[in-house]
Amino acid sequence: MSAEPANPVAASAQTVAAEDRIIIFDTTLRDGEQSPGASMTVAEKIRIAQVLEEMGIDVIEAGFAIASPGDFQAVSEIAKKVKNSVVCSLARAHRADIERAAEALEPAARKRIHTFIATSPLHMRAKLQMTPEQVHQAVIDSVSLARRLCDDVEWSCEDGSRSEHDFLCQCIESAIDAGARTINIPDTVGYAYPEEFADLIRMIKNRVPNIDQAIISVHCHNDLGLAVANSLRAVEAGARQIECTVNGIGERAGNAAMEEIVMAIRTRHDLLPYHTGIVTQHITRASRLVSAVTGFAVQNNKAIVGANAFAHEAGIHQDGMLKDAGTYEIMRPEDVGLVRSNLVMGKHSGRHAFRKKLAELGYELGDNALAEAFARFKALADKKKEIFDEDLIALVDDEIQTIDQRIKVLDLDVHCGARPKSLARVVLEIDGAERAAEAEGSGPVDATFNAIQKLVPHTATLSLFQIHAVTEGTDAQAEVTVRLEENGKTVNGQGAETDTILASARAYVTALNKLLVKRERTAPAALSA
Ligand code: KIV
Ligand code: ZN
Repeated sequence: MSAEPANPVAASAQTVAAEDRIIIFDTTLRDGEQSPGASMTVAEKIRIAQVLEEMGIDVIEAGFAIASPGDFQAVSEIAKKVKNSVVCSLARAHRADIERAAEALEPAARKRIHTFIATSPLHMRAKLQMTPEQVHQAVIDSVSLARRLCDDVEWSCEDGSRSEHDFLCQCIESAIDAGARTINIPDTVGYAYPEEFADLIRMIKNRVPNIDQAIISVHCHNDLGLAVANSLRAVEAGARQIECTVNGIGERAGNAAMEEIVMAIRTRHDLLPYHTGIVTQHITRASRLVSAVTGFAVQNNKAIVGANAFAHEAGIHQDGMLKDAGTYEIMRPEDVGLVRSNLVMGKHSGRHAFRKKLAELGYELGDNALAEAFARFKALADKKKEIFDEDLIALVDDEIQTIDQRIKVLDLDVHCGARPKSLARVVLEIDGAERAAEAEGSGPVDATFNAIQKLVPHTATLSLFQIHAVTEGTDAQAEVTVRLEENGKTVNGQGAETDTILASARAYVTALNKLLVKRERTAPAALSA
C-alpha cells in the first residue's frame, strides 16, 4: 500500500500555518443527529452544511450513508453542493457500508470515508463478539477497501479511550499501513479525564512507528462535561483534528461543542498557540439554525451561544463594562456574530433594503421565496412597530420551511379565555384544496391542534411543544417548536408569528408536512380525511 500523503485537508492546512493548524471536523449532521429527537430533513441538512462551509469548517461529516435512504440522499446532496469543505460519510468496517459511503460521496469535490470499529475489550467481546485478531484483520480490510475507493480515509477506534494500549497501537499502525491518513481516537462514552486523555495521545505519538504519516484526531463525548477540556488537552499533546458539533449536540450528553473549542483556541492563544480556519462571525447563526432545526433549545448560560453569554445584569458589572468592556468581557460579541439587537427595518423599508439585510444575515433567497418573505415582513411590520434582526431570522427560517409544503395554514379563528373549553376554526390548504374544521380543546393550542388533526388524521404523538419569544416586549414574535413521533420516526416543525396560537398552528403543520414526506418514502398515503 502506498504511503503517499493523501489528506487534502492536511495539505491545505499545511500551507496555511504548518503544524499549528487545527482541523475542525464537524459531525453535527451525523453524531449530532444521533441525539434522540434531533431528526433533520435532507433540506435542513443541506442548509446547515452550507452554513458550515461558509464558516470554514474543514470536514463536514454529512451522515452515515448506509443508515437509511434519507442519510444516503443527504450525503449525496451535500456532496454535490459543498465545494470547499471535505464532505465525509461514516461507514462501519463492512464492505457494504464502505461501498455505500463511496457511492454517496461520488459527486464531492473533496471527499473522505470515515470507517470505524471498536477496539476496547468490552466492545469487542460484548458488542462485536469478535476476537482481537478478527478486529485487527477487519481494520486492515476496511481501510484497504476504503482507500481503494477514496484517497482520503479516516479510521476510528471506537471506545479508543478504554482500549488496551498494545492492541490500540497495533491497530493504528495497521490502519496507517493500509492507507488511513487520519487516525481518530474517540472517547466514545465520555469517560476520559483531560490529563489521562493527553497521556493517551502522547503514548500513541511515542509508540506507533508510522504515526508521522497520519494526523491524530480526537472525538470526545460529554458525559462528564469534559469533552471540550479533553479535546484541548489532546491538542496540546499532539492531536491536530478535533471532531465536534454545533451547540455540542450528539449522542447522550453530546459531543465537544464546536463554538467552545474554536473560541477557546482563539481567546487563549497565549496558552493554545494554534489556529483554526473558522470564520467565528458565523457561530451565532449556525447555533441558531441548528437549534431551530432540531428543536433543541440552547440553555441561557451556555458558553459562547447562550442568550446570557454576553449579558451583564449586575449594576457593578454594567458600570465596569461602560468604562472598559474588557473588565467583564473576554470575547467581543461581534466576534461570534452576535449583533446587538439592531433595530433594522420598519414598514416603509423597501424590497431592495430587505434583500440587502437578509444577505447581511446570511440568507440568499430565490425570487419566489424572497417575494413571500417580503410580504410576510410587511404584514409583520403592520403588527409590530420595531423589527429587529432576530425577527427577520425567525420569519425567514419559518418561510424557508414552508416553501413547497403540501399543507398550509390559511386562517385561524380561536375563542378562548375564562371558559371551560376553547374553540378553534382552522382553514388549511391541502394539496391545493381549501378545507376547514372546528374543534374544542382544553385551551387554544389544544383546540387548534384538534381541528388540524380532523383535517389531517394521524397517530403521531406530540413529544415536544416549546415556545420562545424572539425579542422582548408583548408584541414579540413567538417561535414555536413542535416535535411529532410516529412509528419510530421523529420530525420537528417551527413556526414564528406575533400570534402565539398561529405560530403553534404553523409549527404543527410544518411537522405534519415533514411526517408526510417520511411516511411517503415507505407508502404513499391519502392526505386528508
Ligand atoms: O463516539 C464514537 O466513537 C463515534 C465514532 C463512530 C467515531 O461516534
Ligand atoms: Zn461519537
